[in-house]
Amino acid sequence: MTSETPLLDQVIHTYDQDRFPFVRRVRDMFGDADLARIDESCAVHPKPGTTDQATEAHARFYAEFDSIRGLYHDFLRTHVLPLFTGDVCVQAVPTFRVCPPGGVAVSTFHRDADFHHQPGTVNFWLPLTRAFGTNSIWIESAPGRADYQPVELVPGEVLQFDAINLRHGNLANDTGACRVSFDFRVIPLDRFQDTGLSTVTSATPMRIGAYYMVMENPPER
Ligand SMILES: [Fe+2]
Repeated sequence: MTSETPLLDQVIHTYDQDRFPFVRRVRDMFGDADLARIDESCAVHPKPGTTDQATEAHARFYAEFDSIRGLYHDFLRTHVLPLFTGDVCVQAVPTFRVCPPGGVAVSTFHRDADFHHQPGTVNFWLPLTRAFGTNSIWIESAPGRADYQPVELVPGEVLQFDAINLRHGNLANDTGACRVSFDFRVIPLDRFQDTGLSTVTSATPMRIGAYYMVMENPPER
């Protein structure tokens, strides 16, 4: 794959959970809670008037992100950078998501192009619980087709998809199980443009040194 390659496909990658124990380490952040039942020990529904990123669970993940930062970087070097040619901009802190029973993680079906994200961005979506049915993300198969299907994944799998152009979102979760996941964006450095824009939910400037970090590729070992 090169930075010129169109990335319209959805691709599922797998990784070794013994080497990259994201589930174990995120469970530790929540007192060893079963993440599919995280709503029983932690507030996961946004308060009225706040964004879906403003819950107690999100605050805890971001406050404790340093405990998995090294693991995240190692994962990027091992599984993500080899998918690209040359240096890349990577989301410095992945976005944490919780889709609890009765709730929605991201309610509006949208293309990320409508939310300040730029062409050339590739999304990676990593579930920390089983993702199925209405607890998962739903994605159309081609731009404009609106034939949404749920992404069915288990921990140890990562979805790569074109969130810029493919509409995606969530339905009301009637599975009885929370879906917990994190996702992150990657842009080949030679395509990155400093647009001066910020993220819609957290108002983080989408520039290198804020939302994005540069990773050398291939990495120096
Ligand atoms: Fe999105």
